[in-house]
Order: sequence, then structure tokens, then C-alpha cells
Amino acid sequence: MTHAGIDCEWDAARLAAWSQPRLARVEAALSRWVGVEAPVLLGDAMRYAVLDGGKRLRPLLVLAASEAVGGNEDAALRAACAAELIHAYSLVHDDLPCMDNDVLRRGKPTVHVQYGEADALLAGDALQALAFELLTPEGAGIAPAVQARLCRLLARAAGSEGMAGGQAIDLASVGQALDEASLRQMHRLKTGALLQGSVEMGAACAEQVPAEALAALRDYGAAMGLAFQVVDDILDVTADSETLGKTAGKDAASDKPTYVSLLGLQGAQAEAVQLLREALAALDRCPLPETGALRALARMVVERDR
Ligand code: IPE
Ligand code: IPE
Ligand code: MG
Ligand code: MG
Ligand code: MG
Repeated sequence: MTHAGIDCEWDAARLAAWSQPRLARVEAALSRWVGVEAPVLLGDAMRYAVLDGGKRLRPLLVLAASEAVGGNEDAALRAACAAELIHAYSLVHDDLPCMDNDVLRRGKPTVHVQYGEADALLAGDALQALAFELLTPEGAGIAPAVQARLCRLLARAAGSEGMAGGQAIDLASVGQALDEASLRQMHRLKTGALLQGSVEMGAACAEQVPAEALAALRDYGAAMGLAFQVVDDILDVTADSETLGKTAGKDAASDKPTYVSLLGLQGAQAEAVQLLREALAALDRCPLPETGALRALARMVVERDR
């Protein structure tokens, strides 16, 4: 994909150098927190769903936004993991036979293929609950108001006005030709909400953030979050299953309306680039001094090949 005219202060090497230690922190925390004392096979299914896989984009967005506002580091790590847990739960359920019926995820058999549908359902349930437990630790380290705000942001991103609502629209739209406004709404909810929510959670890790900065971060998150699903639709057509770690070509095979089915491949690619411009323009309006990581992450969302 070409991005003529889109500048980003950080190149891929700088983003990789920024991401690497943060990814290691997130990975270690998830391994410490997920499924450790869960009974019978539930803990195994939870850890299988979360560990050793995934781009961890949502945690990186939380950490980048938190660093931009000077947020509490413990709160940010917890919020980063909580966002990833909601995401992992959404994938486990998305792959179930009653939803997208997928057998491959993150390069491995899906959770229900490996552990059965009942344990997949329960692993998703337990990951969702654990996300909120992580956001509300005992002790004085994170101000109660910050904990409450993080819970509210995550709940709204995950629920009927976010991911779950979008998934309901997705399932109700099979075989239908949605217009662009309806497709945009579906994508904003099922995928955009949690990505935007991750940015907002990062910003919520500081107790005081200027209103203009919050508004700009919200606009950034909305554009970048929608771009993410437009690119997911594109990759479903252009990439192979091995690169994606999930079955390519599923959307057309399942007769799902996507940005590619609506606008064609070139039209969808142009839309993704336009959304990247909008995301970067929102950061131009942001009065915070350091938004390089957020910019580079938005660019990565649109340039990624998996
Ligand atoms: C895939 O998300 C599902 C969507 C929301 C489109 P990712 O592409 O972020 O999946 P992982 O976390 O890297 O596996
Ligand atoms: C899924 O969208 C969005 C979720 C909330 C999980 P997709 O169904 O397109 O995601 P993939 O392509 O299976 O990862
Ligand atoms: Mg789906
Ligand atoms: Mg799917
Ligand atoms: Mg998809």
C-alpha cells in the first residue's frame, strides 16, 4: 500500500525499539495474571487463548497514550492487559461455530477446537471477568476514581454499545449489502470501540488531562480503530492464512459485508489511508508534547501485513 505524502517522525525501527520492552512487560504480566489458579482445564484454555500470540496492539495503544499524558505506570500496565483480555475473549467467542466458525487463530487451532465449545465459552467469560479484576486492585496504588474510570471505559468498549453490539450487527448482516454508513457503524462498534477505548484508557491513567487533549485522543482512536477493521477486511482478501495466522478468505466465503465487498480492494485501501490521515490530523490538534508512538502505531495499523 502506498502512503504518498504521509509523514511519520518515527520509522519502523524506532517503533520496534519502543515496543520491544513494553511488549515484554505486558507478556510477563499476562503470564503472571491469566488462568494461574483456575480449576480443571479452564486455566489452560485461558492461557492458550491469551499467551504466545497476537500483535498486542491494544496494550501498546494503552501504554502509548498513558505515556503521552504521564499516567500512573501500574494503572497503565493493568489497563493494557485488561484491554488485551477483552480482545482475546472476543476472539475466542468470534471463532465459535455459532459465530464465525473458525478453526485457526494466531497460528494455532482455535480454543474450541483444542478444548471444546463449553471450555471456550467459559474461558471467554473468565477472561472478561479477569479484565475488570485487574483494573480494581486492592491497596492505595491507583486512585479509586482512576480505577472507576478505567472500568467504565472498558465496559462501554466491550458491551452492547461497543464490541458485543457490533458483533450482533455483524451476525445479523450476513448476506446483506450494507451501505457505507451501516458498515462503518458495524466496524466502529465491533472493532473500533475497543481500540479507541484502549487509547482512552491510557489517557485515563493520569488524574488530570486537558480536555482538548482528551478530545484529540478520542478522535485519533476513532479514526485509527475504524482503519484497523478496514485493513482487517483487506487482509482477509490479500493475505494468506499462514501470514495471518487465521483462515484467509473467510469473509467472502461467509458472505459478510466488508469494506472490500462495498468499495472494492482499491477503494478500501484508499479509505484506510484516508482514515490514517484523519488519525494523524487528530494528533496534530493534540496539545501533548510526545505523540510519536501513537502516530507510529496508527501507521502500523494501516501498513501491516498481518
Ligand atoms: C483481529 O484482531 C480481530 C479484529 C478485531 C479485527 P488483531 O488483528 O489485533 O488480532 P491479534 O490480537 O493480532 O491476534
Ligand atoms: C472480529 O471481526 C471482531 C471481533 C470483535 C473479534 P472479524 O470476525 O473480522 O475478526 P477475524 O477476522 O476473525 O480476526
Ligand atoms: Mg467476526
Ligand atoms: Mg472472525
Ligand atoms: Mg476479519
